[in-house]
Amino acid sequence: MSAVPRRVLVLPGDGIGREIVPVAVEVMCAAADRAGIALSIDEGLVGGAAIDVAGSPLPAATLAAARRADAILLGAVGGPKWDSLPMRDRPERGLLGLRAGLGLFANLRPALSFAPLAGASSLKPALVADLDILIVRELTGGIYFGEPRGIDGNPGARRGVNTMVYTEAEIERIARVGFEAARRRAKRLCSVDKANVLEVTQLWREVVTTVSGDYPDVALSHMYVDNAGMQLVRAPKQFDVMVTTNMFGDILSDVAAMLTGSLGMLPSASLGADGCGMYEPVHGSAPDIAGKGIANPLATILSVAMLFRHSLDAPVPAASIERAVASALERGLRTPDLDGGAGTTRVGTREMADAVLAALAEDVQPEASA
Ligand code: IPM
Ligand code: MG
Repeated sequence: MSAVPRRVLVLPGDGIGREIVPVAVEVMCAAADRAGIALSIDEGLVGGAAIDVAGSPLPAATLAAARRADAILLGAVGGPKWDSLPMRDRPERGLLGLRAGLGLFANLRPALSFAPLAGASSLKPALVADLDILIVRELTGGIYFGEPRGIDGNPGARRGVNTMVYTEAEIERIARVGFEAARRRAKRLCSVDKANVLEVTQLWREVVTTVSGDYPDVALSHMYVDNAGMQLVRAPKQFDVMVTTNMFGDILSDVAAMLTGSLGMLPSASLGADGCGMYEPVHGSAPDIAGKGIANPLATILSVAMLFRHSLDAPVPAASIERAVASALERGLRTPDLDGGAGTTRVGTREMADAVLAALAEDVQPEASA
């Protein structure tokens, strides 16, 4: 066992977050045990759950605990119960406050197709077989955080305002994350913008192009966001790494998720400059299925794999978890969000997690990656 336990803060949040996070924590503990990594796990409140108990979507205690942690595992936030609250009090502010408060500017969203799920995609299997895209989304700037913002004026003549703003420094640091990731993969980076209309993304394109001078081994291309959305559903395998703004990345990552069969499959890592990281599924709190025990836990379990890889510097348990997820799918287990078909068995959250835990217990590390 390593001497100093690594601190993980667990924030289940709302809706299905409260079902998928506990089972993902079981997988995390099992993988850590096998790898001889000591974990110290704390739990905290965020989102609607925090509003109900502490009156704020991001209580000071949660942010403080997040700052002390080596890594954070988050479920999802939001739900109809809190939908009528003013913007600044909504559950989503808890998530956005964590991202901003911890400086987690780089959001990695890998869309990876698992072979047994090729038939679950809304696209033809041949278009998505072996799909492996990484979306690098800027996470602490752009229109999500730009000022001025708000709604002003008198009823009937009100005005809503948001501002999309990026500085050169913000663009440069996320571009570097994109280039570095591409360098470790197929060495192709597509920067997505709307430079034909928005000056802010004209600057984005200029800065990304300048940064590319430091990465002569990576082939850089640029694409307008409308075309990128179209290309993702037309011929997704043309992409290796995509780097884009906060809002465009939000939209394109949901599109990319569907290519892999279900939004319930996509993990994410949000990283800052100092190595701290937050890990969460790309999907939301799914209030329509919350409490039924049928939510797909795999996006959260795959987020745990990313947590081991990026925050705990532990690629071996990360790969074991990924193999265990593949094995559960190969055995034909499917939560209801994954289109079944012949030879598959419909299961709930608990059974899917149990299958992953069982596969993890039997996992044998391939010689080559030892
Ligand atoms: C996501 C989510 C969040 C976002 C919401 C819940 C604030 O959609 O992580 O993609 O828009 O970033
Ligand atoms: Mg989203």
